[in-house]
Amino acid sequence: MYKAIQVNKDTFWTGVNDYESDMFESLWPLPQGVAYNSYVITGTTATAAIDTVKGPYLDEYYNKLLQALNGRTLNYLVVNHMEPDHAGLISQLKSKWPSLKFIGNAKTIPLLKGYHGITEDIITVKDGDTLDLGGHVLKFATVPMLHWPESMVTFDSSTGVLFSNDSFGGFGAHEGGLFDDEKLNSRWEDEMLRYYACIVAKYSNVVQAALRKLGTLDIKNIFPSHGTLFRKDIKQVISLYDKWSRFEGDNGAVVVYGSMYGNTKRMAEAVCSGLSSADVKEIRLYDSSRTDPSYILRDIWKFKAFALLSCTYNTQLYPPIEAICSKLLNRMPKNKFLGIAGSYSWSKGALTALQAFAEKIKLEKINPEVEVFTSPTTEDLSKCFELGKNLGEALHE
Ligand code: FEO
Repeated sequence: MYKAIQVNKDTFWTGVNDYESDMFESLWPLPQGVAYNSYVITGTTATAAIDTVKGPYLDEYYNKLLQALNGRTLNYLVVNHMEPDHAGLISQLKSKWPSLKFIGNAKTIPLLKGYHGITEDIITVKDGDTLDLGGHVLKFATVPMLHWPESMVTFDSSTGVLFSNDSFGGFGAHEGGLFDDEKLNSRWEDEMLRYYACIVAKYSNVVQAALRKLGTLDIKNIFPSHGTLFRKDIKQVISLYDKWSRFEGDNGAVVVYGSMYGNTKRMAEAVCSGLSSADVKEIRLYDSSRTDPSYILRDIWKFKAFALLSCTYNTQLYPPIEAICSKLLNRMPKNKFLGIAGSYSWSKGALTALQAFAEKIKLEKINPEVEVFTSPTTEDLSKCFELGKNLGEALHE
């Protein structure tokens, strides 16, 4: 969006669209880009910015700040989170407004010093502290590990806006309206879930604690620091976060395979046929070599069941499947059914590794485990079909 946009009373969006980064955190692809949302509140006695944006966007961000401030000085910068996608321009703001004061919590302080060399003009806040801008009283709540230890959210008790930073954020740049009632859910919900699965999912237990903490606030709008701004149906958005952080999946299954010459692929297809025979209509079949893990993680979070099938590579898991396993162990999903199968030629290894994975991830494993030598026989494919059928039946129980 090319200009500052008023998004509530005395409240302006001053963010930017990033279509230039191919990957978020140099890890996660951004086919729809990503937005860094920041905001300015102009009270009667003082002004405050909520977060900044990523470093390369100084000129665009600064111009929007000036538009929002309309000739006034910037008095405060609320630092909800120190990751450089939001804190990238802190030093530059201090250069432009030398009297600027920073608002952060105790865990913000060392990061402010480390990233920006800032040790002065810091107001340290704790849970429940407030800042009165004149007509807008900001209340601060720490949400440690959502996404870093110093993460916090800011609530404007006058407008009911929750500036939630990474929480409720999503991939995807703004393509017109900023708000949920200005676009189709299908354009933001999948990218919000992909963001959740990649960035937030590891801290799902913290999300539950944060939802309980925020439950006492009369939230009318949620303005995250990435993606869509919410004002249409706040309860629906909160219930999505509640669902994802409780690992509650839809009735469907993800089948992921790693295959060099098509044999493990055929096993995966047999698992899918088994799922279909059990009347599962939502089935996602992914080649781990060709689908980015972020989409696979997203759908594993979306559905109740998944199966991993790997050929053996140098006596171990096929590397793209190994990468998926590692990412899942980092996030430890719960309440999902798991199926596993492996194949080998000159040395076993894949199924043994998947068994070790299943042991560690502590999900309910559905039998049979299938191990195939070279090409799957008719009997092998029947076992794969049976695995899919059993996974499908588990979904309906
Ligand atoms: Fe969007 Fe954790 O930074």
